[in-house]
Amino acid sequence: MKLRLDKYLCDMTAESRSEIKSNIKKGFVLVNGEIITKPETKVDTEIDEVVYKEEIISYEKYVYYMFHKPAGCVSATSDGQCKTVIDYFSDAKGKDIFPVGRLDKDTEGLLLVTNDGELAHNLLSPKKHVEKVYYAEIEGELPYNATMLFEQGLDIGDKEKTLPAKLEIIEDMESNDTLAVKVTITEGRYHQVKRMFEALGCKVTYLKRLSMGSLVLDDNLKKGEWRKLSTEEICRLREHE
Ligand code: URA
Repeated sequence: MKLRLDKYLCDMTAESRSEIKSNIKKGFVLVNGEIITKPETKVDTEIDEVVYKEEIISYEKYVYYMFHKPAGCVSATSDGQCKTVIDYFSDAKGKDIFPVGRLDKDTEGLLLVTNDGELAHNLLSPKKHVEKVYYAEIEGELPYNATMLFEQGLDIGDKEKTLPAKLEIIEDMESNDTLAVKVTITEGRYHQVKRMFEALGCKVTYLKRLSMGSLVLDDNLKKGEWRKLSTEEICRLREHE
């Protein structure tokens, strides 16, 4: 693919187009060993070697990040009031990135952030039934047959019952009346996990997504941190297509 040099560098760095243009004009960029000062110069993303500020910058059309979303951050690209997922990516490569799907403002955990619309579409497609696993803490008394009720599908006030879901009780937390559970769902309805427990007379007091399809939240990522996906993680996600 052929691209303007300023676009190439704008896509592959966290810098703005105007900063990039100005730095190209100052002679900070080498293409195949030669200083290029015209931002409009065409470069071939597969063949040409671009060096910017003494670093080889290779071109990746798509970028893929794993983000550990903290509570208080909204799953959007912009918001007038709250910090968004994308606000955490100011020094990441790749423009036009967005979170794949939504977590509620108070939900923590795994979010995939990418600019690959096709992969996002496939992972979110209701037809694909991609599994999402959540850890939840709940208050209230669960019916004795809650696991079976999750499996059978619950009426959460929508036209259709929820698809079969898996509920695993992890532990009774001694400090209060809280129960720790793991829930696996294959849909992505609005407030789905919270509404499933509400349907059984319980309240979710804490929610964290642990995985989405083959992608599992990395224990080493602290809240608010992100990292690039490995090639293997990307390949395995593509298998959901
Ligand atoms: N279910 C919810 O209720 N909230 C989330 O953020 C995700 C799933």
